[in-house]
Formats: sequence, C-alpha cells, structure tokens
Amino acid sequence: MFHSEASMSNYLYDSDKTQQFVSWFRQASPYIHAHRGRTIVISIAGEALQTPQFPYLIHDIALLSSLGIRVVLICGIRPQIEHELAMRGALPKYENGIRITDEIALSCVKAACGEVLASVESLLSMGLTNSPTMDIFINTATGNFITARPMGVRDGVDYCYTGEVRRVNAQAITRRLDDGCIVLLPPLGYSPTGEIFNLLAEDVAAETAIALKAHKWICVSETKGVFDQDHRFIEQLTLLEAQRMMSQELDVHLQQQLGNAIRACQRGVQRVHLIPRHVEGSILLELFSRDGIGTLISTDQFEHIRRANINDIGGLLALIGPLEEAGILVRRSREKLEMEIEQFLVQERDGTIVACAALYPFADEDLAELACLAVHTEYRGTDRGDIMLSYIEREARRLNISRIFVLTTRTAHWFQERGFRAAPIDTLPMARRALYNYRRNSKVFIKTLS
Ligand SMILES: CC(C)(COP(=O)(O)OP(=O)(O)OC[C@H]1O[C@@H](n2cnc3c(N)ncnc32)[C@H](O)[C@@H]1OP(=O)(O)O)[C@@H](O)C(=O)NCCC(=O)NCCS
Repeated sequence: MFHSEASMSNYLYDSDKTQQFVSWFRQASPYIHAHRGRTIVISIAGEALQTPQFPYLIHDIALLSSLGIRVVLICGIRPQIEHELAMRGALPKYENGIRITDEIALSCVKAACGEVLASVESLLSMGLTNSPTMDIFINTATGNFITARPMGVRDGVDYCYTGEVRRVNAQAITRRLDDGCIVLLPPLGYSPTGEIFNLLAEDVAAETAIALKAHKWICVSETKGVFDQDHRFIEQLTLLEAQRMMSQELDVHLQQQLGNAIRACQRGVQRVHLIPRHVEGSILLELFSRDGIGTLISTDQFEHIRRANINDIGGLLALIGPLEEAGILVRRSREKLEMEIEQFLVQERDGTIVACAALYPFADEDLAELACLAVHTEYRGTDRGDIMLSYIEREARRLNISRIFVLTTRTAHWFQERGFRAAPIDTLPMARRALYNYRRNSKVFIKTLS
C-alpha cells in the first residue's frame, strides 16, 4: 500500500519508466536478432575523435561487437593531420578538395594514424564499471589489408603519396572477424613497391564494404544528414533517387559521400547509412530503432518483383515443377496456374523467373494465404525468400489484411523463424478449410502483420 501521495506518484513514475524500458527492449530485440552475425563497416569522421563524446561512440561500437555484429572500423584523420602539420610549421595543400600528400604530409599521416589507432584501441580495452562493455574483452586486429596505388598526376597536379584503393584483402579481414575481432583499418594503403599511401577514409570504407559484401556501411559524418531542396530531412533514398540527387548542387563533402554510397550500393552493399556524429548514441539509434536517425541509401529490394502474367507460365512451371515433383509444393496443373496467374508475383533476373509466391486474400476473414513461395536453387542464399515474403506482407497490408497463413509440409521452420506460429486447421477461412487435403497433412502457420 502507498503511505503517501508522493510515494504513490513515485511508484507510478517508476512504473512508467519500467514500461518504457520493457517496450524499448521489446522493440529493439528483433533488430538485435537480425544484426547478429552480419558484417557492418563503420567509418567515422576524424572530427568526431576530438569531441568528449568519442569514448561513448567507441563503447557503442564495442557493444555492437558484443552483440555478435562483425565490425570493421575506419576512422578518418583529416584534423589530426592538420594538427601534425601545424606542429611542424607546414601548411596543408589541397587540390580539388583532395590533399596533396608530400613527404612532410606523409610523416604527419603516419603519426596521426598511429595516434588515432592507439586511442581507439585503448578505448576498446577499457573495462571500467561505468562502461557498457564491462567484463567483455574486445579483441582488435589491424594489418596490411589494403593495397594502394598512387593517384598520380592529374591535370598537371602531382598528388604524391595520396593514393587510391587498389585491392582489399577480404579473406584476411574475414579471418579476423571470424575470430571475433573488431578490425581497425587506418586510411593507409601499401603498394607492391613498398610505398605507403594516404587514402580517403570513406574510400577505404566503401571498398572494404564492397569486398566483404557487408550488410551495411554506416558512415558517421560531419554533415547533419541529407536534405531536399525545401530543407526537409530525407530519411531514405533508393539508389535511383540518390543518383538523381547527384545532379543537384550539393555540398562537396555530401557529394563525395553520396558518390561513395551509390558506388557501394551498385556493387552489392545493400544499405548505406549516413548518420550525423552530433547525436549521442547515433549508431545505436540507427541500428536498433524502427526509424533510425540518419539517411538510408539502399538498393530497392523489390526492384525486380512484379505481378505475373500469362507469358510467365512457362518460367513458373520451370521453377516450381521440380519442387512439385519432390512433393515440396502442391501440384498445380497448367490450367489452374493460368486461371490463378493474377495471384502470383514473380521476381525476374536476366529473363529468368528466379522466385515466385502467390497471395490469395480472404478479406472477409481478415486473412490471406501465402502459397507457392519458391526460389530458384541457383539463386538461394541471397535473401530472395525473405524479400518475396516482405513483398507479400506489404501486399496483404495494402489490402487491409492483418494476418497471413501458409500451409507447409517441409518448410515449417523457415516460416517459424520469420514470425509464423503454428495454428489449428480450423483457423483457416471456411472456403480454404473445405479444400484442405488431409492426406497431404500440411501444417498451418499464421503470422500477424505488425
Ligand atoms: C524456402 C525458400 C523460399 C527460402 O529461399 P531463400 O531465401 O533463397 O533461402 P535459402 O534456401 O537460401 O535458405 C535461407 C535459410 O533458410 C533455411 N531453410 C531453407 N529451407 C528450409 C526449410 N525447408 N526448413 C527450414 N529452414 C530452411 C536455410 O538453411 C537457410 O538458413 P541458414 O542460412 O541459417 O542455413 C527456398 O529455400 C525454397 O524455394 N525452398 C523450396 C520451396 C519451399 O519450401 N517453399 C515453401 C512452400 S510452403
């Protein structure tokens, strides 16, 4: 019982906080699950290193690693190089926004790299009781993973030791990630002739994300984000929209970032997140909350999906025929397929149907059946099944249907791992129950769409 109004209001206050925590934790948990085991490349602008918030940023990265995310970290060193140059009484030299790395600048680059690497490693080694990574020992790994070549002479300007990424040793990095290390990459590269080259941190990040086929590249940058012409913040851009944006007048730095993001997406990185460094906990917010705080540039996962038409019958039969033979999918005659072709969605690549699924709505009962989900054997292992399922879910929501069900004999676990729950046969819509084949004895699974 409460002894005073004050203690009761304290209780309510605490209970609100408890509720907030519980609901936050529940909301974050699917993301924790989804990101585990995935490779994420993170690049951080050198300016962030000079702020009091930097230790928190690094501890957040350590937290990601402790949650099973495979992290490659690249820190920019531009202001640190400037500082080193100033200490040596030398002036920075730039041409077209690119540093000319002469002998003096190169020694500053090496000094700055060493200093930054040491401070990041020391922060990752902290075991303070007030650090989120207390009791977790984070191993780091670094090495000669990047092969570089000189930028050379352009329009008569010799960029000296400023280089470009020539190759990323993805195998060696992967081995360190497999060992559970956070891989730290300085923006340096080595040439087969034994020279050292100063590289742009974001170039290294983009090329590394591409070489590792990383799930994401998170670019923690100085820019506050991407804004449209009316100064509205843009949360998401498809690859095409990002390409269109490049033709607008943009801040040079943003132009470089978008260019790198587009290159990474075009070459297989599914998602590039541009997030501002100024927001405390920005990486955690971006990864574990629904809306994030940055601008996401992604390839359109639904790009090659469309409604099937009568010309797709041959391709569909080629895809599902062997699965019907094997008893994995229910047999459909050509005539039935022709009659129901409008329920089918297909994903097409280079003239071949590589995936399909059908959606049969029972709108009166707020249900829809997902059927005939299949991915061509040669195209499996690249999330196509998940992408088809997301598309089907989106279609169901568009029809104001909140539950989808599936009947399956051999793929139960695949659906269960994606939020479907076993259900009795009598949960099926009446009309569908009448057609249930007791000899086939399929199991029913239902998913409530969020
Ligand atoms: C189910 C299916 C559409 C998924 O396609 P996909 O996204 O390309 O996925 P993959 O086949 O590469 O498998 C992805 C993951 O699901 C698992 N998986 C695949 N088939 C599974 C099954 N029948 N049961 C349980 N898990 C399965 C894979 O092992 C893999 O997990 P892992 O990476 O942890 O090993 C595809 O495997 C398929 O076409 N299967 C045959 C048709 C079928 O069963 N359709 C369902 C009709 S009800």
